[in-house]
Amino acid sequence: MTVRCVLLFAGALSLQNVSLVILPPAVQRGQQATLLCNYDLEGSPLYAVKWYRGIWEFYRFSPNDNPPTKIFPYQGIHVDVSMSNASQVVLQQVGFNLSGNISCEVTTDAPSFTTAMVSQELMVIELPKKDPLIHTEKDRYDVGDTLRANCSSAPSKPAASLSFFLNENPVGYPSTRFFNVGDGLMTSVLPLEVRVDPSHISPSGNLTLRCTALVATVFRKSVEVILGPRTSEPVPERVTSPSCDPRSSHIQICIILISGLALR
Ligand SMILES: *[C@@H]1O[C@H](CO)[C@@H](O)[C@H](O)[C@H]1NC(C)=O
Ligand SMILES: *[C@@H]1O[C@H](CO)[C@@H](O)[C@H](O)[C@H]1NC(C)=O
Ligand SMILES: *[C@@H]1O[C@H](CO)[C@@H](O)[C@H](O)[C@H]1NC(C)=O
Ligand SMILES: *[C@@H]1O[C@H](CO)[C@@H](O)[C@H](O)[C@H]1NC(C)=O
Ligand SMILES: *[C@@H]1O[C@H](CO)[C@@H](O)[C@H](O)[C@H]1NC(C)=O
Repeated sequence: MTVRCVLLFAGALSLQNVSLVILPPAVQRGQQATLLCNYDLEGSPLYAVKWYRGIWEFYRFSPNDNPPTKIFPYQGIHVDVSMSNASQVVLQQVGFNLSGNISCEVTTDAPSFTTAMVSQELMVIELPKKDPLIHTEKDRYDVGDTLRANCSSAPSKPAASLSFFLNENPVGYPSTRFFNVGDGLMTSVLPLEVRVDPSHISPSGNLTLRCTALVATVFRKSVEVILGPRTSEPVPERVTSPSCDPRSSHIQICIILISGLALR
């Protein structure tokens, strides 16, 4: 009981600002990850820094031991000893199964004997090796046509989320389908079926379909195909619509339509 009281009291005095930073925050499979444990001992001597993946300790630095570093065998963790010390651990060739909770625990030596532990999520990812691919039913579309297309992404982890844009406007539904392709990787396919309307045509007259693939907020790639116009002239009906009669009360709308057309 007495010991516990001493620990709590000392804790407030001698170990501050313990934090854990993982660089990069999303590590690519096969690359290296640097785990930084920052702490302020406030003058107390360091007893040990212990590192855990989940509940298993894989690295310990205790300056009073010889050698000060100790590595505990853990399947799939490759500690780079030459780059690891009291404040950091470098892991080489990280695999997907390292994804998860990494913790560092700092303990100070006599007289205070305080301990603090912090945790961070390590995310091991794999980015698509190729651009997303757009496949359309036809090569050219015009206003009124039904455009059917698919966008698919190369294997990645986590799976890419896909979205379609026509002339910069989002189209279709966020209904990406995911397929397991082995080795922990997924491909994504997004189908699209949309009726082309005038708002889908750009001011320059192009009908541009874009697919954007997003992987874990660290990867974004867009591809575009030009699908029109099938006819090179702007759609004429809007100019001759009844609302364009200058005598009608719809004159404002008429002007807007004509100036909209002029912009093309
Ligand atoms: C992680 O993967 C490696 C290689 O694929 C394997 O040897 C190891 O057993 C796995 N580790 C765990 C904790 O599942
Ligand atoms: C650990 O190593 C890194 C890189 O070599 C260095 O920047 C850092 O100061 C070292 N930290 C300690 C406590 O020795
Ligand atoms: C991470 O590990 C630490 C120490 O084992 C534990 O206290 C914490 O609850 C874990 N966090 C998650 C999100 O699993
Ligand atoms: C989209 O993909 C589905 C499933 O693979 C396929 O049946 C369909 O024909 C494709 N559509 C187009 C327009 O490529
Ligand atoms: C359509 O887009 C292509 C590629 O961005 C561009 O070269 C072309 O000039 C555009 N056509 C029109 C009519 O603006």
